[in-house]
Amino acid sequence: MYDRFASRICARDNLSRRLVSYQGNKQAPGLRWLKYKEGFSAELVQALLARTGAKTVLDPFSGSGTSALTASSLGMHGTGIELMPLGNMAARAIITASNGLQYDEYARASNGLIDALSADSYDDALLFPHVPITEHAFPEHTEKDLAKAREYISGIADSSLSTILTLACVSVLEEVSYTRKDGQFLRWDPQSGRKVSRKLHKASLPRLAEALRRRLDEIAEDLPSLKQKYGGSIPEFIDGSSLTELRKMPAESFDVVVTSPPYANRYDYTRIYALELAYLGYDGARFKELRQELLSATVENRSKRKQLAREYGNSPQFLKALAMTDNQEALQEALTILRLNADSLSNRNVITLVENYFTEMALVVSELTRLLKPGGSVFMVNDNVRYHGQEIPVDLILSDFAEQSGLDCESIWTLNRGKGNSSQQMGRFGRQELRKCVYHWRKPNG
Ligand SMILES: C[S@@+](CC[C@H](N)C(=O)[O-])C[C@H]1O[C@@H](n2cnc3c(N)ncnc32)[C@H](O)[C@@H]1O
Repeated sequence: MYDRFASRICARDNLSRRLVSYQGNKQAPGLRWLKYKEGFSAELVQALLARTGAKTVLDPFSGSGTSALTASSLGMHGTGIELMPLGNMAARAIITASNGLQYDEYARASNGLIDALSADSYDDALLFPHVPITEHAFPEHTEKDLAKAREYISGIADSSLSTILTLACVSVLEEVSYTRKDGQFLRWDPQSGRKVSRKLHKASLPRLAEALRRRLDEIAEDLPSLKQKYGGSIPEFIDGSSLTELRKMPAESFDVVVTSPPYANRYDYTRIYALELAYLGYDGARFKELRQELLSATVENRSKRKQLAREYGNSPQFLKALAMTDNQEALQEALTILRLNADSLSNRNVITLVENYFTEMALVVSELTRLLKPGGSVFMVNDNVRYHGQEIPVDLILSDFAEQSGLDCESIWTLNRGKGNSSQQMGRFGRQELRKCVYHWRKPNG
């Protein structure tokens, strides 16, 4: 398969890690409020959209909304689909702040929020709604302050202001907690009282008022440039799963798709964002439901084939996706090797992870092909992965799905330095770099 795509694989010096990651958004007005570490940069989206002449842009894994927001800033209509409540909330806060938010009212409400934190009492009923994986995340004074913040925000009638203040609170939870998002893990500081094996030692935690003040000031500072950038534009942010939402959209609705789906690397968004989800009211049952609804990328995910069969029936896109998955040689070869080595895998469920991931991505690719206008393009950022020393060429398999669906694979641009493997795998299988890529697929003209 490599030989088939070899002429289209090329290393691009100008594709830096900063560009394809959140690093590039660290200074970007609005996008810097919520540090969505799985995001890519607005600069990357801008570069990809330049010269496409696109009017309509879709991101089916929208995260914090970088694609749809950037498209809007360029005068295009952006649409994002995102299943986790956090990303759409952050994107909506940016759009709200850019369209009609009164600076004076914001200043009053944000000062009111900080003042509310110095109250002597708090409402027990508004204490942080912990789930088992978030217990002991905050010092006691922060638990109380968070309850005061929730009470203050619940009294604000203007939904624009309450969205922005809620986002501000959510965006500082990690900073004021004993946790840190660290690669694929949520690490814990032993000060939390939890038994932790790999130690994290945060310096002394800021008080909620201090962390919030910084974020609220950052928001105020960004308001003028946001109005310039996104004022007048109303991108659409859809709350839901792409596996369900794409099917409802009419064919040939979009000129360009710019997206980065979850990678097939066991990354569990519900664990990494446990504090934020709990703050937004997710209880244990909703956590489990969300984990199953997300694109399969963890060893906990069960097959969605039956559920998708009920939803899609005999839709050609669904039948095509199943056939592509079941007949994709490189994928089936990788699955056979994993099955033969099932006993020595660190977790046998990586076999179902790989199978589910590609079934769902085949459906996404097939639906995106239907949704693209002739001549339209898909740009996708994704990483290859490795299990049991076996590289899964995600780039080639997905590009094969694209070609089978009727798209031309124009290029697979690779970052110069791919990702190494986990330290556990390095010990057993040696280090070999995995490709980290941006793919460009195009729908032929008419
Ligand atoms: C790599 S991130 C994309 C980040 C985005 N490019 C940004 O700049 O913020 C993948 C996103 O897909 C979302 N996701 C996972 N499964 C989904 C599904 N079935 N439908 C919609 N979004 C999903 C995750 O919550 C995550 O935000």
